[in-house]
Amino acid sequence: MELKLIQCEIVDGIATVTINRPDKMNALNAAVLGELACCFDALKSDASARGVIVTGAGEKAFVAGADIAELAQMNPLGAKDLAFYGQQVFARLETMGKPSIAMINGFALGGGCELALACTLRTASKTAKIGLPEVSLGIIPGYGGTQRLARIAGPGVAREWVLTGDMVTADEAWRVGVVNRLFEPAELKEGTTKLMKTILSRAPIALRLAMETIRRGTNMSQQEGEIIETDMFGLAAATADMKEGMAAFLQKRKAEFKNQ
Ligand code: COA
Repeated sequence: MELKLIQCEIVDGIATVTINRPDKMNALNAAVLGELACCFDALKSDASARGVIVTGAGEKAFVAGADIAELAQMNPLGAKDLAFYGQQVFARLETMGKPSIAMINGFALGGGCELALACTLRTASKTAKIGLPEVSLGIIPGYGGTQRLARIAGPGVAREWVLTGDMVTADEAWRVGVVNRLFEPAELKEGTTKLMKTILSRAPIALRLAMETIRRGTNMSQQEGEIIETDMFGLAAATADMKEGMAAFLQKRKAEFKNQ
């Protein structure tokens, strides 16, 4: 599929996916969602992409939400289908098995905030504004935001953000744990890349198993989650990278992981 509304560039194992509709604040219309779905599928099977950074083109916006001009045309069943489709697209990113970071360079509102929440981690420029303004439009977040925000920051924060519809500062989003790292605008790209490089220097299969364990565990009891944890721990111990990681520590050298 030819990508027209997003760009995807892979450098040194890091795929940067840029939503590119700056004149519309990178709003997610159906065409953008379709391109994202296609791109996430391609990245999943592309061994040259080991981690994914998602961001928005231009200075002002990460993504200012689902495209309101399109939403305005929805009937109830169409709205339900759209929410389901958006959820599926974001789930492809979340379950890709590769770490992703939302690099929030400006407004991350509505569907944009929800896209950021579907990433493994979030970094933000200190000038970014984040929020879920859907109730101001007579709808509710529909791309997984009500569920993921409650899991990431707790139901209290989710209720406050969803019910007020207010935008919060990047600093406030960091304080409540939605944003993992804050940077000056000029340092956002370098800081985010450095964070991704640190993650990618670790054993890739261990990263994948850890992400899956945390993701699945947040949907179950502590006891059930720990059963998954023991299984994943056992799986990790079956990898050549486990032997390499431990040998490297004992021999006081840097590990060379092979994703095996
Ligand atoms: N859907 C469709 N178009 C959008 C959009 C969205 N979510 N967000 C911004 N745009 C468009 C505007 O309509 C405008 O288009 P135009 O130039 O053709 O009129 C363009 O992007 C620039 O936006 P504008 O509102 O002029 O910029 P601003 O700097 O004054 O305000 C925002 C920026 C982000 C605060 C404002 O655009 C906004 O509130 N957007 C909607 C946010 C929202 O409710 N998102 C949730 C959707 S479910």
